[in-house]
Amino acid sequence: MAGKLTVVEGMAVAEVVAANWEQIYNFQARPGDILIDTYPKSGTTWMQEIVDLILHDGDEQICMRAPISERIPFIELLHLMKPGFEEVNARPSPRVLKSHLPYQLVPPSFWKHNCKVIYVARNARDTLTSFFHFDHLVLIHPDPEPFEDYLQRFMKGDVGWGSWYDHVKGFWAAREKENILYILFEDKKKNPSQEIQKVAKFLGKELSEDLLLKIAKLSSFEHMKNNPMANNSDFPKEILDQSEKSFMRKGKVGDWKTLFTAQQNEMFEADYERQMSDTTLKFPKLK
Ligand code: A3P
Repeated sequence: MAGKLTVVEGMAVAEVVAANWEQIYNFQARPGDILIDTYPKSGTTWMQEIVDLILHDGDEQICMRAPISERIPFIELLHLMKPGFEEVNARPSPRVLKSHLPYQLVPPSFWKHNCKVIYVARNARDTLTSFFHFDHLVLIHPDPEPFEDYLQRFMKGDVGWGSWYDHVKGFWAAREKENILYILFEDKKKNPSQEIQKVAKFLGKELSEDLLLKIAKLSSFEHMKNNPMANNSDFPKEILDQSEKSFMRKGKVGDWKTLFTAQQNEMFEADYERQMSDTTLKFPKLK
C-alpha cells in the first residue's frame, strides 16, 4: 500500500515522518556529534559506510558490528525503527547521525554545538532517476508511476523531503558559515580516494595511502552490495519492500539517460536553468 506526503514547514514529506515532527526537529545533538545530510538518493549510505570506516581505521570487522542503519541512525525515522530515540539519546558522544532534512530544518542543536556536517549532493537527473526507481520500493511514499508525473512532481518539490533544488542550494550557501564539508557524488565516483581523504581530514584523521585504498575498496559499490551490513537489506519491510528489487541498484553516473526522453530532458534542462540561476553551485558536465 502506498503512503502519502504532506507538507511540514514548506517541505513535502511522508505523513508518518510529519506526524513526529516536533521530536525530530528538537533532536538534541551534542558537541562532537557528526551529521551526514543529503537529499535522498545522493549516495547517503555510501558516505555513511565511508565515515564509519574512517572513524574505525578501516577495521572491516568492527564496521560489520551492525547494519548501517543502526550504526548511523536516521533521525527522521527514529520513531519508526531501531535504534529509536531513547537508545540514540543514551549513546555516548560522539555519535554519527543521518538526515535528509534541508538546511533550514536541520535540528538547531547541530548548529548550536558547531557539529561537523558532511553534505553529499548528486546531479539532479541521476538523483531523480534513482529516486523514481526507489519510490517503487518505499511504502511510506506515493506510487511514483507514471514517470511523466514524477518528473513534474520532482521539479515542483512534491516528493519526499521536498525540493532537490532548494536542498542543494541551501547547504551550498551555508557551507562557509557553518561547519559543512560539501561533497559531490560524481567526484566520489571519479576519484574515491581523493574524496575519502577530504572526509578524513575534515574529521581530523590522516589516512596512509594503504588505509585509503582499503577504505575505498571496502566502500566500493560491489563490496557494499554484497555486504549485508552495508546494503540496507535489513531495512524494515513496512518502510522498504525489497522483495523484487534491492536498494543497491546501479551506483552509476549518467543513468538518467535510460529514463528521460530527449523531449523530457529539454524541458527539464530549461526548468533547471531557471531554478539554479541564483547559485554558484555547479555539477560536473554529464556527457
Ligand atoms: P542508484 O539508484 O542510481 O543505483 P542513498 O544512500 O542516498 O539512498 O543513495 C542511493 C544511491 O547510491 C543508489 O543509486 C545506490 O545504488 C548508490 N550507491 C550506494 N552505495 C554506493 C557505492 N558504494 N558506490 C556508488 N553508488 C552507491
